[in-house]
Amino acid sequence: MPKSIIGGIGMYVPGNVYTNNDLTKFMDTSDEWIQERTGVRERRFADRSNETTATMGIEAAKIAIERAGITPQDVDFIIFATLSPDYYFPGCGVLVQRALKMNEIGALDIRNQCSGFVYALSVGDQFIRSGMYKNILIVGSEKHSFILDFNTRSRHISVIFGDGAGAVVLQPTEEENRGILSTHLHSDGNDAEILAMYNPGSHANHWVKNLADYNEAEIGDQYESHSMIDAAQNLPVMDGPGVFKKAVAKFPEVVLEALNKNGYSPADLALLIPHQANLRISQFIQHKLKLRDEQVFNNIQKYGNTTAASVPIALCEAWQEGKMKQGDLICLAAFGSGFTWASALMKW
Ligand code: ACO
Repeated sequence: MPKSIIGGIGMYVPGNVYTNNDLTKFMDTSDEWIQERTGVRERRFADRSNETTATMGIEAAKIAIERAGITPQDVDFIIFATLSPDYYFPGCGVLVQRALKMNEIGALDIRNQCSGFVYALSVGDQFIRSGMYKNILIVGSEKHSFILDFNTRSRHISVIFGDGAGAVVLQPTEEENRGILSTHLHSDGNDAEILAMYNPGSHANHWVKNLADYNEAEIGDQYESHSMIDAAQNLPVMDGPGVFKKAVAKFPEVVLEALNKNGYSPADLALLIPHQANLRISQFIQHKLKLRDEQVFNNIQKYGNTTAASVPIALCEAWQEGKMKQGDLICLAAFGSGFTWASALMKW
């Protein structure tokens, strides 16, 4: 049975850099508070007129495809992970298919927030192992800036996030000492509402009463959108300490699960690339697993938390900086809204 390797990798971040000091113009915060609590120094925000989640993902995909030594027409499946799609529906996968003039291949969208890319990698890995596909494009992309609230009321959320995209091409290999060894996926919906954006969502019954009870004159006036907006229900919510507590438990657990399954220990890791949630969370994982500084890759300082894009962006930068060589043991791990968490262990 073939294993999957990352045959090409790319990233794209918008040109607009916003430092912590830039954010102090909109909300009551400080560079010192943000750096101390999150590690973030600056982040990128998409150009509002011409950059979307799909367009950024497409730019990252072009690089990954070229580095894989194939053309867009060679891709035989697309998996797109995001929580900030261009449209409520359809998903972004078809927009990539259209923009890159790909064949009429399958396009799957994954909505698993911060763990979306690792979930996508796991799905792609199954298709490669089964022999169904040979070139799978996986994209993680986010345009958070369009939903962030730059008001002091949301400062504990908005200072953390940034925009960007990363992409990989997954391909089969028969080589002994290379490829994805295993992936591990988990969820616990008990705290689904503590890191969330509730609307637009079907829980919210836009109609105040049952549709059958309206008369014709009333139809059209009954949307609750104003009250939703007044109550800020169209903005992300986050119980920061609640997320922190669960993340520092589940991150190390899912890394150890992957290592144990394959007979390795943390000392064997060449590189752990965690989802860039918060530098303090990464440092906590490093401490818990007794990893040296050079075993953990962090770049949240430059880009903030880019949710589904954070793992492929970090993976791409680590690779560009020459931090992985063939045969190295690499672990990707993520935790986020849902809660969902996941890991992937591979030999580079
Ligand atoms: N600037 C200045 N002060 C702030 C800011 C800010 N940006 N945000 C919050 N504060 C204030 C609060 O108002 C509060 O003030 P008060 O004591 O006068 O009421 C004080 O700082 C402490 O607020 P907390 O929300 O309790 O701050 P905390 O120390 O928990 O830090 C943070 C907040 C950074 C979000 C932290 O809880 C955390 O790291 N949580 C993990 C969540 C996370 O990393 N999410 C990332 C996205 S989810 C994911 O990717 C897994």
